[in-house]
Amino acid sequence: MARTCLAVVLAAGDATRMKSSRSKVLHTVGNLPLIAHVTRTAAAAGVSKIALVVGRDAALVAETARSGHDVPVATVEQTERKGTGHAVLMAREIINEGFDDIVVLYGDAPLINPESLLAAISQRASGADIVVLGFRAADPTGYGRLIERDGELIAIREHKEASADERAIDFCNGGVITFSGTEAASLLEAIGNDNAKGEYYLTDIVEIARTRGLKCVAIEASEEDMMGCNTRAELAEIEAVWQARARHAAMLSGVSMIDPASVFLSHDTELGNDVTIEPNVWFGPGVSVGAAATIHAFTHLEGADIGPGAMIGPFARLRPGTELAAKTKVGNFCEIKKAKIGAGAKVNHLSYIGDAVVGAGANIGAGTITCNYDGQNKHVTEVGAGTFIGSNSSLVAPVRIGDGAYVGSGSVITLDVPDNALAIGRARQETKPGRAERLREKIAAIKALTKKA
Ligand code: UD1
Ligand code: CA
Repeated sequence: MARTCLAVVLAAGDATRMKSSRSKVLHTVGNLPLIAHVTRTAAAAGVSKIALVVGRDAALVAETARSGHDVPVATVEQTERKGTGHAVLMAREIINEGFDDIVVLYGDAPLINPESLLAAISQRASGADIVVLGFRAADPTGYGRLIERDGELIAIREHKEASADERAIDFCNGGVITFSGTEAASLLEAIGNDNAKGEYYLTDIVEIARTRGLKCVAIEASEEDMMGCNTRAELAEIEAVWQARARHAAMLSGVSMIDPASVFLSHDTELGNDVTIEPNVWFGPGVSVGAAATIHAFTHLEGADIGPGAMIGPFARLRPGTELAAKTKVGNFCEIKKAKIGAGAKVNHLSYIGDAVVGAGANIGAGTITCNYDGQNKHVTEVGAGTFIGSNSSLVAPVRIGDGAYVGSGSVITLDVPDNALAIGRARQETKPGRAERLREKIAAIKALTKKA
């Protein structure tokens, strides 16, 4: 973008209808806070600076808004909520630093895309003084209506102020308004609050600009792109749109999903080519999956790096810090946390592997548990390459099982096992020939006695 652009992001609403103890814009879509979606989109469109208008949770909102991009973010506080026009004016000092374009965005509308912002800015470059992004609303109730004449926008009428004829218009203000940085302060200062809500409406800027002979236009975006969030029900609708888009993009990039609607992705989920995802899989933040891996049904993943060709689940849980090398297998009812599992190693049934390093080709038998926590500290378990851990073993950390070692089933391993050794840590079996018959007779005799009594 050759032009300089300031994005003013409004995030000071009181969000009463969310009924939440935290700021609305900290609620998430695709496991990323709404405000971060908006600021990252602004950054992707190439804005030069972001002015963030904040209310409650200011510090956390600002920190979140800064994450994931390197456009400078300046925050200004709006202590009293007096309307969108008033909110933008809070950023007056930053606006006056001098920008070609000012674009106003809402912190609670995360589906806006960089292309729409660039389309608005290109209209500005070709001579429009104010560009408003509008959409055709299935139900326009509550939105500001875009009133056009001869291809120009002549006013935005808020629902509460609109006449019956104006209310019949379905072309609505999506909230993204772009205007000249040099005119901005003087236009914003001319906004009054003589209206149904007693608020300073940013939308009045259009009629004010018209009286000064400025040209205003509206361009159309999709209703989905402009979705805003006032309630948790609307948040869920936005999530559904976001998820559908993310799944669609993943499938177009070479990922197979058998029942896409049941797969939940995060904003940073990375899926390689030929990955197959079965139904009901949850990707929390920080998951990457290498090519041709299969994620079987009902698997829960978070902070895990899965190598190519791995087979995960069904019913597996990978927690943060999991690193699985190529062609590993983690089967049903296994939980892995902060553990590196080497290439081709298998953890197939009912195991907990935490704070561990497992070598390539190791076979971890059913029900193996790394006892990593002593009630105060976490300790590491090392399992060498090519080891065989018998079923139902407890590996009491800190402990090291050497390369190529064998651990007998049912062992409790508290001491290091050298390379290629066999370790058995369980009570020795005793077998008493014929004793089963005598035991049965004894039990029967006791039963007869208790019946008589
Ligand atoms: C606004 C528009 C309306 C548009 C609709 C689209 C105005 C006057 N109306 O209406 O034309 O169709 O959005 O969704 O602009 N905010 C502040 N401080 C304030 C007031 C609002 O930060 O003092 C923030 C809110 O947190 C929100 C955004 O600005 O993110 C929009 O405010 P909201 O009250 O939701 O505006 P609407 O009545 O929905
Ligand atoms: Ca709104």
